Amino acid sequence: MTDIGVITMDGPAGVGKSTLARRLAAELGIAYLDTGAMYRTLGLRLGAAAADMAEGELRARCRAYSFTLEVREEGASPVLCCNGTPIGAEIRTEKAGRLASLVARLPVLREELQRAQRALGESSSLVAEGRDMGTKVFPAAGHKFFLDARPEVRARRRYLELEARGELNGATLEEIQRGIEERDAQDRNRAVDPLRPAEDAVIVDTSDLDLEGVLRVLLNSVEARRTTLKEKVALVRARAQMALSAENAAVFQGNGGGQMLFAAAREDALAAVSAVAARRGCSCRVSFDLRLHDELVEVEASAEEGPLADVLVLVGVQTAASALAAALPGRRMDIHAALLPEA
Ligand code: DC
Repeated sequence: MTDIGVITMDGPAGVGKSTLARRLAAELGIAYLDTGAMYRTLGLRLGAAAADMAEGELRARCRAYSFTLEVREEGASPVLCCNGTPIGAEIRTEKAGRLASLVARLPVLREELQRAQRALGESSSLVAEGRDMGTKVFPAAGHKFFLDARPEVRARRRYLELEARGELNGATLEEIQRGIEERDAQDRNRAVDPLRPAEDAVIVDTSDLDLEGVLRVLLNSVEARRTTLKEKVALVRARAQMALSAENAAVFQGNGGGQMLFAAAREDALAAVSAVAARRGCSCRVSFDLRLHDELVEVEASAEEGPLADVLVLVGVQTAASALAAALPGRRMDIHAALLPEA
């Protein structure tokens, strides 16, 4: 089931998003991306001073950290790494949560993390968990979920969780509920990327369901949509391939396994596709998949069948491959691009 693409999972604190996103990813055999962990990591690394940094400095500081999903043991799920080191329990503290919430309000920092998140979604199928996955980061995702639960239910779950960990510190259920309601208001009303369901998200109220019940709802919904898509939509696909020299392959390694190069190439390709479509007066959504296999780069584009879809997917893969070639030493490269037969 690895061709599933991106599944987005948004919702307020305390709905069980993390557990469910992780389980859903494991059931489907795809990666899990915890975007809250990225905000927590930058919150800890940059500290409260980030809020006072000039835009240029903040951007440069953010770019010093690169996020990757890496398989550390054979057969294990990929883990989120920052500059090559797995992100661990150090981000699960009250302080990290506070700093994350502070830096999450900074538009430049959000822009940088969102770019990194899109790049990760480019290179593999994943369940992306956060607050703005369906609305902002992956608006074209094939499957979107928004989990919610009544505040009193979330408060009770949080209370029991803290009690089990011996971390209640005298807090009452009422206090915890008030805290949850305050954080909800902050998340839903903040100026940049407020928490809200995407228009095409499936909203799941988890108040009266247990974990296994919600997981079943999510899996059924993914399967139903995949079947409908397969039945209804014929896709037009093109692929471009480019063999790399060892020197070129090293450039990819130095760019987070190619993810930064892929993100830039995808942007160029999308711009080229939009320009051709606009000139010819048609509209068509093209999706891209860029991969590095050993020393071969593969770019695949797909679009629903329609006027000019074949031209647009070909323009897309050729532009993306050319943009990658232009970023590599030597520059003269053989690019083979062709339409693919119907799946
Ligand atoms: O889900 P979490 O508690 O680990 O998130 C930490 C903080 O990051 C929280 O204040 C919300 C923020 N966040 C965000 O603004 N956008 C995301 N996509 C993920 C988290």
